[in-house]
Amino acid sequence: MCGIVGYVGERRALPLLIEGLKRLEYRGYDSAGVAMMEDHTLQVTKSAGRVAVLEQMLDFDGSKATTGIAHTRWATHGAPNDANAHPHTDASGRIALVHNGIIENYTAFKKYLEQKGVVFATETDTEVLVQLIGCRYKGNLEKAVREALAEIHGTFGIAVVCSEEPGIIVAARRGSPLLIGVGQGEYLVASDASAILAHTSQVAYLSDNEMAVISADGLRTTTLDNIPVTKDIQEVEWTLDQIELAGHDHFMEKEIFEQPEAMRNCMRGRVDLGEGKVHLGGIADVAREITRAKRIILTACGTAWHAGLVGEYLFEDLGRIPTEVEYASEFRYRNPVIEDGTVVIAISQSGETADTLAALSEARERGALALGVVNVVGSSIARETDAGIYLHVGPEIGVASTKAFCGQVAVLAMMASYMGRRRHLSQSTTQEFLEALARIPEQMEQALENSDQAKTIAEACAQRENWLYLGRGYQYPVALEGALKLKEISYIHAEGLPAAEMKHGPIALINDGMPVVFIATQGSQYEKIISNIEQVRARGGRVIAVATKGDHGITKLATDVLYVPHTLEPLQPLLTVIPLQLIAYHAAVTRGCNVDKPRNLAKSVTVE
Ligand code: G6P
Repeated sequence: MCGIVGYVGERRALPLLIEGLKRLEYRGYDSAGVAMMEDHTLQVTKSAGRVAVLEQMLDFDGSKATTGIAHTRWATHGAPNDANAHPHTDASGRIALVHNGIIENYTAFKKYLEQKGVVFATETDTEVLVQLIGCRYKGNLEKAVREALAEIHGTFGIAVVCSEEPGIIVAARRGSPLLIGVGQGEYLVASDASAILAHTSQVAYLSDNEMAVISADGLRTTTLDNIPVTKDIQEVEWTLDQIELAGHDHFMEKEIFEQPEAMRNCMRGRVDLGEGKVHLGGIADVAREITRAKRIILTACGTAWHAGLVGEYLFEDLGRIPTEVEYASEFRYRNPVIEDGTVVIAISQSGETADTLAALSEARERGALALGVVNVVGSSIARETDAGIYLHVGPEIGVASTKAFCGQVAVLAMMASYMGRRRHLSQSTTQEFLEALARIPEQMEQALENSDQAKTIAEACAQRENWLYLGRGYQYPVALEGALKLKEISYIHAEGLPAAEMKHGPIALINDGMPVVFIATQGSQYEKIISNIEQVRARGGRVIAVATKGDHGITKLATDVLYVPHTLEPLQPLLTVIPLQLIAYHAAVTRGCNVDKPRNLAKSVTVE
């Protein structure tokens, strides 16, 4: 949620850090700050607001510092004001720290430190940590950080500098991602590879309870208990152009339009039309256990939960395996029943969502086989699983998730057909399914041609403050996702429902001209959804239908029709979600909202 970047080397650090912060802004953007170290002087500058505000306060020509740490924040403890922005410093002003995560026992330490005479300048949990490090400091920063971390409870990704030890950054992690970028005579520390990719693609990912000390001379890694650890240096698989706008106005727009390519990358080497089967290397070692699974629990948050709901239909339909989908935040506290043969699949774009990670750990502890469907390679969830499948859809920067949803649905579809084929699906049914899946990228390109029409609809309806999204069967999760997209970025109130539920209450909301989006593609429930459309029309609602190409009849019932190509019912969400993403995008632009940085949201929520 928050972003950390640090640099130590021979170059001027400030421009590098600000560039890194801008790339991290999608992670949090309430406030930002830098701590620069020049000789033995520590200079901290921070401000509420975006990185651009901070940038204006800085003296780029004057700063010759070659060591510094920086942060962009999404507030948890304390309002997003200047004082609460990171970096935080200890009372002596010698030590500065940036922190992602939460210090759980900060109140107790605050009291303890106040009794020792420490005066706190902020309301944050983070200040408690830096003050504690300050108290433990006896001339060795690494040692002081180690001692302080041994006392606190909670999660952290931190980078710390001390004016008495110029040219050194101490970094540590527990539960909040941190990596070290390895350059030529320089090292970077970051919470996310996108912050440093412009400078190096060689990284060492810190694991939980590990610590790194970096200087221009080298990198030393240990556990928090000071046992040396040798880290592999890995190549980041994402490229710089993948994290740039490339001519688009917003990352969300770019990512919507990237979906056909993202699908191709997601399926590459996995969908084998020649043999009519799916190869899923990531779960090959546990194939036997998966095949014999008696029950599947999919767990996730937000958009990933909607993908999980599609997964529930897929696993039951194709795999004939009893499946449930659970909000991770509920699952982790619900005393769930995990019997023999239960497979728990955590779905997450970032791989860092705290609730999903905790749900997965809970499931593992109770004996379930824990699998992950994750986009970010090496992320916490990916490391915590017994096995898993990466999405390979490339970095997703826009806060509103788009291509990750399609990647998640595609991976779940591949898993369902993989299991189905091992259990009861015939070769010909599997072949037909895979052929349809392989056609999806091209069909997505056709669905994207709706953009101008989606814009016209969005412009016409953008001032209506209440919308409904309705779908049945496989389209019910898509209705939820369409409504979530609209809420997230345009701040319009929208509700997604199974279409048949409308008559049990929400129908009372429908008034003249209220936008009601129906996902009304050809399939087993087409006739039923047409009746639901009639019910809305009769009450004056404005029907916006997503329909199958060639369905001319629907134009008599709907004010607007957005067509998508025909595909098998279980795969339709991959196409029908596109017009809904486009409507949400254009509605937000029409309303003048900040599409990529919607208010109050963060790309990845690493707190409960
Ligand atoms: C946040 C984001 C959502 C996302 C959810 C789960 O709430 O704003 O867009 O769907 O987290 O994130 P994950 O990274 O676990 O998929």
